[in-house]
Amino acid sequence: SLIPVIAIDGPSASGKGTVAQRVADALGFHYLDSGAIYRLTALAAQQQGVGWQDEAGVAAVAAGLDVVFDGALILLGGMDVSEAIRSEQIGVGASVVAALPAVRAALLARQQAFAQLPGLVADGRDMGAVVFPHAPLKVFLTATAEARAERRYKQLLGRGEAADLAAITADLQARDERDRNRAVAPLQQLPDAELLETTQLGIEEAVAQVLAWWQSRI
Ligand code: C5P
Repeated sequence: SLIPVIAIDGPSASGKGTVAQRVADALGFHYLDSGAIYRLTALAAQQQGVGWQDEAGVAAVAAGLDVVFDGALILLGGMDVSEAIRSEQIGVGASVVAALPAVRAALLARQQAFAQLPGLVADGRDMGAVVFPHAPLKVFLTATAEARAERRYKQLLGRGEAADLAAITADLQARDERDRNRAVAPLQQLPDAELLETTQLGIEEAVAQVLAWWQSRI
């Protein structure tokens, strides 16, 4: 398509959401947090009493999602769920429903609809591989497991949630393994993606690197 897209993929708590959002702000582009869509699906299934492993049931929930993205505000069925979808429990549910092919298929067009002029920055696990395979810039953004666990830990404490570093590390590992080893749209570093290792990198430096890659491509 003619819409410029920057696809940023990577594991949980790598900081890709913050970087993607800032790159979008800098360029005046739209922003897609595709993980939020999987989190919304897990939350909606839970609310409707549909088990996360029930592929046909969750796919129906996904197809019928009544979602409004309004800046930082996310409404599900008219209710503000911006914070509810960020819990660890819903993160785990998201990675369970995300492994079901029918659920991914049901969410594909909804994600692609975010590609609007003047452009889009999309973050997730399969933005470059599946949702926007023709994106002119693909980035694989990562950090060591220790650095990611620490970031998530601080994030939860900052929100006043109870947090246990060992439990978070175990959760992240389980989630990443599920994301990397699933049969459909696994998390992977594509051969045509730029590698951005952020363990030793500040947010501003990471944003500057993505913008530099983008400038060199247009
Ligand atoms: O990025 P975030 O942690 O919010 O994503 C939650 C879960 O949703 C991930 O662990 C992953 O299983 C799933 N996901 C996915 N594909 C995407 C984005 C998220 O499978 N593009």
